[in-house]
Amino acid sequence: MQWEDEYSVGVAELDDQHKGIIDLFTVINAAIDSREGWSDVFFKLEKLREHARFHFAVEVSLMRMHGYSKLAEHVEQHKHFLDKLDQLQMTTLSRQVTMNTIEYLGNWYSEHMKTQDREFVRYIIDHGKVNLTHPPAA
Ligand SMILES: [Fe+2]
Ligand SMILES: [Fe+2]
Repeated sequence: MQWEDEYSVGVAELDDQHKGIIDLFTVINAAIDSREGWSDVFFKLEKLREHARFHFAVEVSLMRMHGYSKLAEHVEQHKHFLDKLDQLQMTTLSRQVTMNTIEYLGNWYSEHMKTQDREFVRYIIDHGKVNLTHPPAA
């Protein structure tokens, strides 16, 4: 997976977190592709979970702070991702993990960034009391 400009939500910190998650997808894809041991794939997925949880917590805090109307829906989406990640991690234990399963998660994530994440950031920028964008460099 590679970062593409269309993934940008317009807030540097969130884009950086998204880039970090994409990098982890790349590492996991390579691990599955080169048939690394199941425990290595398992731990790489665990790292993805940690990063995703941290990132989701940041997003949800921003949504709460700004009274985002689609908060519950967005939280459900994040839960779906973590549930699928759980299932995928279980398959590593039975050595049945395939490119298809990780591809599903990668595609899901790309779509989420381009639609739901962009939508909530737009809302926060339009309605927020906090300016998330950086002032131009002097
Ligand atoms: Fe996100
Ligand atoms: Fe999100």
